[in-house]
Amino acid sequence: MITVRAATPDEFPRVGELTVAAYRALSVDHLFGGYDKRILDTAARASGAEVLVAVVDGRVAGAVTYVGDSSSEWSEWTEPGEAQFRLLAVDPAARGQGAGGALVRACMERAAAAGSTIVIHTTPWMQIAQGMYERSGFVRRSDRDVPYEEWKEDDFDLPDEWTGQAFLAYSWSATD
Ligand SMILES: CC(C)(COP(=O)(O)OP(=O)(O)OC[C@H]1O[C@@H](n2cnc3c(N)ncnc32)[C@H](O)[C@@H]1OP(=O)(O)O)[C@@H](O)C(=O)NCCC(=O)NCCS
Repeated sequence: MITVRAATPDEFPRVGELTVAAYRALSVDHLFGGYDKRILDTAARASGAEVLVAVVDGRVAGAVTYVGDSSSEWSEWTEPGEAQFRLLAVDPAARGQGAGGALVRACMERAAAAGSTIVIHTTPWMQIAQGMYERSGFVRRSDRDVPYEEWKEDDFDLPDEWTGQAFLAYSWSATD
């Protein structure tokens, strides 16, 4: 049985650790430039957005950060009236049981209730997530893609694989 609900503060370390583990398991480095340290600060995300967890058989298996308000500091590359979710992640040891799908559906329900369109960004190495989004009704929005060179502001080098690539946008609305 899978339950999706808001993370409680005592679960924040587990949320950070499973999210780093999920991103570390991707085929290309997604944690460069200190992103792992930012991911581990779940409390900061929970202060400005909604951190949801998927609990499978009593254990936190996955998490996502839902940003319902485009004026939130956690909202990235959205326009007024658009919602977003970020850092969707399921513990590599708990995959394929429906936790990821349940988290995405929870975000879709929140956006539908608010009448918002969801706009999200993925990377070229997140094919499993992209397949799930497409089967859930998300549409590819190349007009909202963001090239990595445009996004990169901090003083760190992009890994070679990222050069010339872009964050790939998808959107979903209950009224589409
Ligand atoms: C994407 C992710 C969250 C899916 O989590 P999960 O709990 O395994 O997902 P589910 O069990 O709910 O399965 C979701 C769908 O993906 C499919 N799927 C799961 N694992 C798969 C795999 N290894 N290969 C192909 N398809 C897979 C399932 O069949 C299911 O298909 P459906 O949409 O037809 O129902 C997880 O793989 C992950 O953490 N990936 C790394 C982080 C990431 O890419 N995040 C996206 C940020 S935008």
